[in-house]
Amino acid sequence: MEGKLRVGVIGCGEISSNHVLGYLNSARYEIVALADLSEQAMHDFDKQFSEHDDYKPEHFTDAREMLEKSELDVVSVGVWDMGHAPMTIAAAASGVKAILCEKPMSDTTGSAADMMLVCRRNGVKLAIGHQRRFLPAYNLAKQMIGDGEIGEPRLITTAARDGLPNYSSHLADMYRYLLGDPECVWVMGNVERETDQWARAIPIEDKAFAVFGFDNGAQAMILSGLTSEHGFGARIYGSDGMIELSVDDLKIMNSKSDGWQEHKPDGDFAKYGFDNFEMIEAGAAQAREFARWITGEIEEYRGVATNGYKALEMVHAVYESARTHAQVEMPLKTRTHPLAEMIDSGHLPVRYPGRYDIRNRTLRGENTTLDTKNV
Ligand SMILES: NC(=O)c1ccc[n+]([C@@H]2O[C@H](COP(=O)([O-])OP(=O)(O)OC[C@H]3O[C@@H](n4cnc5c(N)ncnc54)[C@H](O)[C@@H]3O)[C@@H](O)[C@H]2O)c1
Repeated sequence: MEGKLRVGVIGCGEISSNHVLGYLNSARYEIVALADLSEQAMHDFDKQFSEHDDYKPEHFTDAREMLEKSELDVVSVGVWDMGHAPMTIAAAASGVKAILCEKPMSDTTGSAADMMLVCRRNGVKLAIGHQRRFLPAYNLAKQMIGDGEIGEPRLITTAARDGLPNYSSHLADMYRYLLGDPECVWVMGNVERETDQWARAIPIEDKAFAVFGFDNGAQAMILSGLTSEHGFGARIYGSDGMIELSVDDLKIMNSKSDGWQEHKPDGDFAKYGFDNFEMIEAGAAQAREFARWITGEIEEYRGVATNGYKALEMVHAVYESARTHAQVEMPLKTRTHPLAEMIDSGHLPVRYPGRYDIRNRTLRGENTTLDTKNV
C-alpha cells in the first residue's frame, strides 16, 4: 500500500460511504481511520468495505482524536452541513494535505469563507463534493457547448425539490460547469415556506423559483417544488440547438442534426446502464482527479472549493433576493443564512406549524431530531 494516500473519514453516513467506495475504486488511497459519534455507523462501513485490501480503519468516536493520532493525508467531511466548517477547519489545522468536504459547502457563506481562509493559511487543498462534475454525460455536454454545437448558450432550465442549498447547490454548480465556469453576476428569485420544513437541521423552503445571470450572457432557471418534475439533468437552449441532459446520457438537436441524436457515454469505472452508474462513476473519477491534484500531477482540480463556494453563494442569493425583494448583484454581501434571517425576523411566518426534517431518516437509535451540539 506504499504510496497510497492515507484517508480518515469524519461522519460515516450515506455520502461518505460513496467517498470510501470512490477512494477504493480509484486505487490511489487507503482508508486508515473513521470517526463517527455512532459506533454502529463505523461498523456498518466495516461490513460494507472490509473485504478490500486498502480498507483497514481504526475507529474513533472523537474526530479531533482521529486527526491527532492517525497521520492522515486526506480527510473526508461527511457530517451534516453545519458541521462542515468546524470539521474542515479542525482538519486543516491538524496538518493534513487535502480535504474533501460535502456539499453544500457550509450552512452560511461566512463560515464557508472561513473554511477557505484556514485551508489557505495551512497550505491545505480544499475540495467540495459536487461529484457530478465527473459524469461522462456532463463532460460531453460541456464539450458540445464549448465547441459551439448549440450555438451561443442562452438558457438552462432545471427542476428541483427539497430545499435550494440541499438539492440545488448541485444544479448551481452544474450550470457553471456546463458553461465553462463563468461568473454568476446576478440572481433573482422568490420562495414560499408555509410548513416548518428543514433538511439536515437547516431550514428550507417549500417552493422556490430562481433565475441566474452569467457574465457570458447565458441564464439559468430553477423551478423547485413547483411541479412534480425534479432531477440533476437540464434542458440547455442555444442560438442554434438544444441539449437534453440527464445524469447518465444526453440528446442533442441542432440545425445540422436532422432530429435528435442520442449519446450514452461509458465511464472509466462503470459502463453506461450499470446499476448505480452515476454514483460509482462520479465517486471514483472524483477521487482519481483529487489524488492527482494532491500529489501535484495536475495544477487544477474541477471540484476546488472556490467552485463549491460559488454554488452555495448562488443558492443563498435566491434567499437574499426574496429577503430584500430585489435582484441581487454578485458577489453576495450577506454572510449569514438569508432564509433563517427571514424566519427569525418574522418576515416568513409558517402557516402550518410543526417542525420536521426531511433527512431525519438517517438518524440512529431513538433520535427523531438532531442534537445540534454534536454535528
Ligand atoms: N454529494 C451528494 O450527492 C450528497 C448526497 C447526500 C448527502 N450529501 C451531503 O453530505 C452530508 C452528510 O449527509 P448524509 O445524508 O450522508 O448524512 P448521514 O446522516 O447519512 O450521515 C452523517 C453521519 O455523521 C455522523 N456525525 C454527526 N456528527 C458527527 C461528529 N461530530 N463527528 C463524527 N461524526 C458525526 C452521524 O452519526 C452520521 O453517521 C450533508 O452535508 C449532505 O448535504 C451529499
